[in-house]
Amino acid sequence: MKPFRRILTGKKILLGVCGGIAAYKIPGLLRRLIKEGAGVRVILTEGAEAFITPLTFEALCREKVFCQCDFLNPPPGCIPHTELGAFAEAILVAPATASFLASLASGDARSLLVATILASRAPVLLFPAMNTKMWEHPAVKENVKKIASWGYKVFTPEEGALACGEWGPGRLPEEEIILAHLEKTLALQDFSNCKVLITAGPTREPLDAVRFLSNRSSGRMGVALAEAAWKRGAEVILVHGPLSSSPLPLIRRIPVETAAQMAEAVLSLLPKVDILLMAAAVADYRPQDTWSGKLKKTSPSLTISLERTPDILKEVSSRRKPGQVIVGFAAEEEEFLPQEARRKLKEKGLDLIVANPIDRPETGFESATNEVFLFFADGRKIHLPLAPKEVIAWQILDAIKELQK
Ligand code: CTP
Repeated sequence: MKPFRRILTGKKILLGVCGGIAAYKIPGLLRRLIKEGAGVRVILTEGAEAFITPLTFEALCREKVFCQCDFLNPPPGCIPHTELGAFAEAILVAPATASFLASLASGDARSLLVATILASRAPVLLFPAMNTKMWEHPAVKENVKKIASWGYKVFTPEEGALACGEWGPGRLPEEEIILAHLEKTLALQDFSNCKVLITAGPTREPLDAVRFLSNRSSGRMGVALAEAAWKRGAEVILVHGPLSSSPLPLIRRIPVETAAQMAEAVLSLLPKVDILLMAAAVADYRPQDTWSGKLKKTSPSLTISLERTPDILKEVSSRRKPGQVIVGFAAEEEEFLPQEARRKLKEKGLDLIVANPIDRPETGFESATNEVFLFFADGRKIHLPLAPKEVIAWQILDAIKELQK
């Protein structure tokens, strides 16, 4: 198993900031990049300097921040646009203003930022943010179309309340979204052309109008798998029960409540997918009878009969097409983990089962970390030591990639 390395660790990122009100958010983004271990250099346009000072950025990245004055009056021996252009493994511009987009679209290299982009062959990610009427103006639309046709990624601004008091598309996306796009740009796209269906979270089996049977699954492992697969280029569909953490809004989601609804969603999508990762903690039983209103406490005791829910994976294995990879998950007491995992692997006709011990506080349900054992249909076993669920998700995908070869 390859050692895990965060995507942005050691990556050289050039951060361009233009003169829009969203510039005040960019020091926060810079901090996140530095925390991820990226090496960041910053260019501020003249407009950006009117909103925020170079000193703020310099204090965060501990590097000289380049401004327009450095272009015409460079530090001795330095050619800023070619040096920064060669430094960058990715160029990220946020906020990208209408005037910046116009200069880039016309190849006008009078600003240091545009000149640097022209002098670089690194991937370029542009996050426009401006007033809605400006964003929708044909001049801006034309410029965006032209820039996008050269392979630069121009991300549509988010809709919401704008600094000018209006409501509409024009907002800079949240840091999380910008970072996710950057990670996807820099990650090896080894799951491109691959459709991955992932289930996550618990199911809820209703008893009456206000009560249900469920379990302690948070859905974090499934969400981590969905985000990792998306960053690695997969087309991801996440079928999930109630989650305690929300996945990146960039991921296609199908929310469900019950095991029966999850079964219906999974089985209808199955013919179109290459990989199924069944990380959901599906309820095994549901109340046989349900009350339409609220169940009242009229008797001293109450017996509820439960019936089995459909076993989704068993049904999947009888319908699977050649070449599909089917992965199950199992949370087990440590003592019985190997035999239970191998039993389920066989009974459910899986290629791989990911098993984690439930009798430790730092693994499994509701925890941010996990330690798992991978059992393969060919008899192999791999141990993934305790790590954040994001790391475990990445390693599980590495193992699946090996299976696909
Ligand atoms: N699973 C499923 N349908 C169910 C129950 C579970 O597809 N009705 C899937 C889970 O999503 C998981 C795998 O089967 O990937 C193993 O789930 P687990 O609850 O550990 O196994 P069970 O089949 O419920 O077996 P047992 O009750 O004996 O532990």
